[in-house]
Amino acid sequence: MKKINLKTSNTNVPIYVGNGILNNFEISKYLFNKDVLIITNTKVGKLYLNKTKRLFKEYKVNSLVLPDGEKYKNNETLKKIYDFLVKNHYDRSLTIVALGGGVIGDLVAFAADTFMRGVSLIHIPTTLLSQVDSSIGGKCGINHKLGKNLIGSFKHPNLVLIDTSVLKSLPKREFLAGMAEVIKYGLIKNKTFFNFLNNNYKKIYRLDEDYIIKVVTTCASTKAKIVKDDELEGGIRALLNFGHTFGHAIEASKNYRGILHGEAVSIGMNIASAISADQELISHEDYCEIEDMILRLGLPTHIPKKITSVSIMKHLGHDKKKVSGKNRFILLNNIGSAFISDQLENKYLEDLSKNFIS
Ligand SMILES: NC(=O)c1ccc[n+]([C@@H]2O[C@H](COP(=O)([O-])OP(=O)(O)OC[C@H]3O[C@@H](n4cnc5c(N)ncnc54)[C@H](O)[C@@H]3O)[C@@H](O)[C@H]2O)c1
Repeated sequence: MKKINLKTSNTNVPIYVGNGILNNFEISKYLFNKDVLIITNTKVGKLYLNKTKRLFKEYKVNSLVLPDGEKYKNNETLKKIYDFLVKNHYDRSLTIVALGGGVIGDLVAFAADTFMRGVSLIHIPTTLLSQVDSSIGGKCGINHKLGKNLIGSFKHPNLVLIDTSVLKSLPKREFLAGMAEVIKYGLIKNKTFFNFLNNNYKKIYRLDEDYIIKVVTTCASTKAKIVKDDELEGGIRALLNFGHTFGHAIEASKNYRGILHGEAVSIGMNIASAISADQELISHEDYCEIEDMILRLGLPTHIPKKITSVSIMKHLGHDKKKVSGKNRFILLNNIGSAFISDQLENKYLEDLSKNFIS
């Protein structure tokens, strides 16, 4: 079992990574009150709710099972959680456990942050994406129909438990979507890791224990370090949004249906890399290497053909990372090095996005 510490000015979050740690983790070191509520969804609940309940067998455990899917990361589902919490007379001594992927993690953490101005939270992320990214760093929230994650806050968990063995049941398409965020860490921060992924993706896809643990711990510790240096995204943390500006506009254009977050981010990373080459920040060869890698690893590079550039531009207009009316993009100045740019004009972005529609 590996341990990573996410230290910020006012919190210290232990993150444990291991194959099978849900079977024998000593939870009592981290949990001092009796009430525990596990919140999950129908799919993950069927697979891992009983196992997770056993982890908390010394406590008074209850569970709430929500519908599955990004389209439920909204106000109505949040209200269901609040109703359940209030009807069950929970107080501030409650610990909520978010058992699931990024959708459950974001939604449940926001509920934990706002119910009674905040109760304790444990993340048990069960998708690759949530293990390498969304369970770490505290960002949480829900979607608005006009834009993704527009309502939210920062809520650090008290503990993150990452059991890589749960990835065995993850559908291949979901695993690949998580790989988009994994590739992102290589592109923005770590060329050696980018090369490692290029050379070892077959072993990673087979869930070879040493390789998948290396992937998850490298990403989790990179994210923990970035968050430590810039908890509230005043600067360097924004680099984690590489590929996300176009990605979010693509997801919103599809009304969050038929495309996975990681797939949209993969297309967004390809576009951001193409912009970086077009702006002569990276070479054309580097761009081709990135696009080849994304394709080789089985991820999409182009916007689905039913999406128009008008729709992309409309949704870029709602991006919450805009500053003074200008979109902010994360661009590469090398493979393994990124920076923030707000220098791109709308006309340029619209013309460019047309070239990326399949
Ligand atoms: N908070 C952050 O910092 C942050 C970062 C990145 C992404 N996100 C958010 O994360 C969300 C995407 O998360 P996701 O990709 O994990 O999607 P998800 O939570 O929808 O999970 C994907 C699918 O896999 C199922 N699933 C989960 N674990 C499983 C398992 N072990 N076995 C079988 N099926 C399993 C889920 O029920 C779902 O059907 C988006 O809403 C995105 O905005 C948040």
